[in-house]
Amino acid sequence: MAASPRAFVLRHTRLRPVAGLVEVRLHLTDDVLAVWRAVQVETDDPDASLPYWAVAWGGGLAIGRYLREHPEVVAGRRVFDLASGSGICAIAAKRAGAATASSNDIDAFALAAIRLNAHANACRVNVIGRDVLDEPPPDAEVILAGDCWYEAPLARRVLLWLQRARDRGIDVLVGDPGRAHLPVAELVELAAYEVRTTSELEDLQRRTARVYGLRPSDVAGR
Ligand SMILES: C[S@@+](CC[C@H](N)C(=O)[O-])C[C@H]1O[C@@H](n2cnc3c(N)ncnc32)[C@H](O)[C@@H]1O
Repeated sequence: MAASPRAFVLRHTRLRPVAGLVEVRLHLTDDVLAVWRAVQVETDDPDASLPYWAVAWGGGLAIGRYLREHPEVVAGRRVFDLASGSGICAIAAKRAGAATASSNDIDAFALAAIRLNAHANACRVNVIGRDVLDEPPPDAEVILAGDCWYEAPLARRVLLWLQRARDRGIDVLVGDPGRAHLPVAELVELAAYEVRTTSELEDLQRRTARVYGLRPSDVAGR
């Protein structure tokens, strides 16, 4: 890798307010496919992950909007943002008064973007860069999971991990714009928002994204 992840993020994004969540500013791109090509060149890896960190996805936008309307969900509490991407949910949680916020992602560029974005929003965010989905649930009171249902293997692991967290008394909020692997039967809808996200990868530029809680285990039949 020629440049540091931090320098790469700065070179390929622009810091700006998030549509529909303008109190949060993130390093974002309008041309995610161009940034993806740059990642492939930078890492010399044609299979490199999409630069998820350079876009505010529908799920994270919905959680951000929900926390703005319901700050009491996180105020004074320890929050863990799974699959954090840009860090949008952790930053929204801190703005809503979370005592602490941890951002978790496995993409080195995402970790750099989260640090840059936390700094841009004057938020202290603890960054965790390993895959925690085979570990016990974290030391947190609330877990936020924005837009992590786009691949079946990831969706299966995320659901099991979130259910373990719920069974230990951790509150879980899921945000999602209707991805194929969203486990709808396991969720309870809390709110719906019209969000504007990237137009290149989504079929509609404006779409409805929803916030859910996890269904209690007895209701789900376990
Ligand atoms: C679609 S993005 C969502 C980002 C952000 N939550 C949002 O809503 O804008 C999904 C993120 O999940 C991350 N991811 C994928 N597998 C993961 C894993 N096992 N653990 C943590 N993060 C993971 C990706 O790197 C990516 O940043």
